[in-house]
Amino acid sequence: MSINYKKLGLVTTQEMFKKALKKNFAIPAYNFSNMEQLQAIIQGCIETNSPVILQVSSSAIKYINPILLRQMIFGAIKIIKKNKIKIPIALHLDHGNTFELCKSCIDNGFSSVMIDGSFLSYEKNIFLTKKVVKYAHSKNVVVEGELGALAGIENNINHTHFHNKLRDIPEKRKIKIEKNFYTQPEKVKNFISKTRVDSLAIAIGTSHGVYKFKTDKNTPSLRFDILQKIKKQLPNFPIVLHGASSIESKYVNIINQYGGDIKNSAGISENQLRKAIKNGICKINIDSDLRLTMTAIIRKTLTENPKEFDPRKYLGLCREELIKIIKYKNKKIFGSAGW
Ligand code: G3H
Ligand code: 13P
Ligand code: ZN
Repeated sequence: MSINYKKLGLVTTQEMFKKALKKNFAIPAYNFSNMEQLQAIIQGCIETNSPVILQVSSSAIKYINPILLRQMIFGAIKIIKKNKIKIPIALHLDHGNTFELCKSCIDNGFSSVMIDGSFLSYEKNIFLTKKVVKYAHSKNVVVEGELGALAGIENNINHTHFHNKLRDIPEKRKIKIEKNFYTQPEKVKNFISKTRVDSLAIAIGTSHGVYKFKTDKNTPSLRFDILQKIKKQLPNFPIVLHGASSIESKYVNIINQYGGDIKNSAGISENQLRKAIKNGICKINIDSDLRLTMTAIIRKTLTENPKEFDPRKYLGLCREELIKIIKYKNKKIFGSAGW
């Protein structure tokens, strides 16, 4: 049965972006795929009084089950209300790649969808994005588009964590995507006016997963020059940064110390994120940091307590650590605390 997001107590991203742009902070968009992550996100945002975009990929929706997801969101909103706190919550589809997927999310209570047509030609991206926007706007749902391509492959290293859109693309095309990596500022205005999207994800040097840069380089910089050119074209338009996890060495080291094997990982430093926000980024996507933290806590806890078999013990510890991280990011990096 279809449901409108308003019935679930959700809002779109419109008002939160407006305020973020005006006051120069960023709205956190945290990906989740299980109960503990969702609990931690809402608890961290309640404790910091922060607006939040709850974000799920199509694979996360499948993993959770769409029927259960709806009830989880309904429950999350009830918990927030019970805390007598008024923070805006949006439910967002991350990296939707077909009209049908976006439509199904819109019909099932999402208040925001991303149509990521960046794997298509510019014209085809416009065509697909426009089609999604038309349907979404008829239901008062907002849409994030993408121009440019976030690499899942950097410096010719074929990392195991592929960006959704790169997974099914033949080798030859992957090289092409590497070459077309950054968003071209001269195209953004035309893309917005043709598609009528409500926000735009751009590529300025971040990528998904735990291997964002070649680690033998000095601290790599994002292309702030491109961001500034884009902002010049679209001064009051919401711009989104994907692939923004910091990939703290603290957690990578715990994983490696307790039997894991994550070598040469690299994330986006806190200062680069602060600079991106200062330069007008108003939505920041975080997924890998939450996954990495959970894995570190689980590896450590189970190795140190070989007799433990109650998932509530180690998942409970994960949840505690995630709450700390979310509170820290909201307060110290995004500036979204104290709505
Ligand atoms: O953009 C990628 C997100 O981190 C989601 O990844 O498809 O493995 O859930 P996923
Ligand atoms: P990370 O992999 O850096 O957490 O990025 C997540 C993301 O952009 C989801 O869309
Ligand atoms: Zn992304």
